Amino acid sequence: MTDETGKTFELTDPASGRSAHLPVRSGSIGPGGLDIASLQKDLGVFTYDPGYGMTAPTDSRITYIDGDAGVLLYRGYPIEQLAEKSSFMEVAYLILIGELPTAKELAEFTGNIRYHTMINETLLRFFNGFHHNAHPMAMVSAVIASMSAFYHDTMDIHNPRHREIFSHRIIAKIPTIAAAAHKHSLGQPFVYPRNDLDYASNVLSMLFAVPCEPYKLDPVAAKALDLLFVLHADHEQNASTSTVRLAGSTGANPYAAISAGVSALWGPAHGGANEAVLSMLEQIGTVDNIPKFLTMAKDKSSHFRLMGFGHRVYKNFDPRAKIIREMCHRVLAALGRDDNPLLELALRLEEIALKDEYFVSRKLYPNVDFYSGVIYSAIGIPRSMFTVMFAIARTVGWVAHWQEMISDPGMRIGRPRQLYTGPTRRDYVDIKKR
Ligand code: SDX
Repeated sequence: MTDETGKTFELTDPASGRSAHLPVRSGSIGPGGLDIASLQKDLGVFTYDPGYGMTAPTDSRITYIDGDAGVLLYRGYPIEQLAEKSSFMEVAYLILIGELPTAKELAEFTGNIRYHTMINETLLRFFNGFHHNAHPMAMVSAVIASMSAFYHDTMDIHNPRHREIFSHRIIAKIPTIAAAAHKHSLGQPFVYPRNDLDYASNVLSMLFAVPCEPYKLDPVAAKALDLLFVLHADHEQNASTSTVRLAGSTGANPYAAISAGVSALWGPAHGGANEAVLSMLEQIGTVDNIPKFLTMAKDKSSHFRLMGFGHRVYKNFDPRAKIIREMCHRVLAALGRDDNPLLELALRLEEIALKDEYFVSRKLYPNVDFYSGVIYSAIGIPRSMFTVMFAIARTVGWVAHWQEMISDPGMRIGRPRQLYTGPTRRDYVDIKKR
């Protein structure tokens, strides 16, 4: 819980002389939060903050971001150290439970996840309802929502054991659902999860294996995907996590809340940017075209934005983008694809943009989505599945935030206010007089 710092801001209305005393609450690190609960009662106003740029709707112990310094901590551990030394299953345990696991705890957790990777056979029939060119994010969101129909009578959100089983089920099953969506779009048979493979290897196997020949797993690709999952696992109160929290705050079935998170992530301003970056790079085509596209990005009337650039919180390099950029060279070289023209173009685009006053003055740096697609492409993942990969990883963060909220005795339904700018009161006019 947050503590009062003892510091209070006093806000006075000079016209009425009324004052509000607003205490400052502090977390363990980072700026304090002004508690405005008494504002409407004391001064008859509330705050106005479109896009919640300056609003903390909750406190949380999961992830900390310092946007100015480019710092990202999962439960206090720097993302750089976790990227170098950990694995996605270990990071999933850390984000969910709050501590790094012992070897025994990790083995038990990984076993629990592995136990739940299959999906009910009737769920597979859902995919027949989708056209072959349906976007996989739409399919994944719909099928996850349908899981609330399977598990509604065995899902008491106030029962810790039910919450734990939900956590294991959804983290285990989302790769299986994601791969089924991909196989449906190819018209290929669904590939079952394998209990002899680790999490990332299982994703690749379910995506690319075919029944008519043995699947040759590429350890470089599996390690690269595992690291991308680590980097995408959580990011405090981003749009999709806030969506999961808001949906979950009504007491809705958590599978339905996660489905809402998948839908929110899909947008190109959020997780959908990784797919949009590749389309943008292909649209730019050559280094010579970069100035033309930067001009468009600076022209508001063009509605074109440099995808993979900018961030609501990071006003410095996104630490994940730095790690992924370094990863690109290593993975592409290991895969024998280091002459990747898209990577060269992305590197030049970053170099030119970061010398341009428009981007520098607005502190627009590459974010997590700028380079990730280069790696997804190199390991064979189709562009339409990039955001699905993001969703697989972020499910860990969504579940952890949902758990943190539901188990908080002080939890309240989320219900923002608004500034009304519509017509004042007026009487109904009979249609004959209009
Ligand atoms: C993710 O929140 C998270 O943590 C998200 C995420 C996570 O892990 O969950 O980090 C993942 O979603 C990363 C962001 C991926 N999205 C993109 O790459 C899309 C391109 N970026 C932008 O659309 C934008 O930067 C946002 C959406 C990311 C942030 O938008 P903000 O905070 O609302 O910023 P803004 O629109 O107020 O921009 C401030 C200024 C504006 O110009 P001015 O009005 O000051 O003249 O910067 C400009 C914007 O026009 N600007 C851009 C730009 N991003 C901001 N101009 C050109 N290209 C861009 N990409």
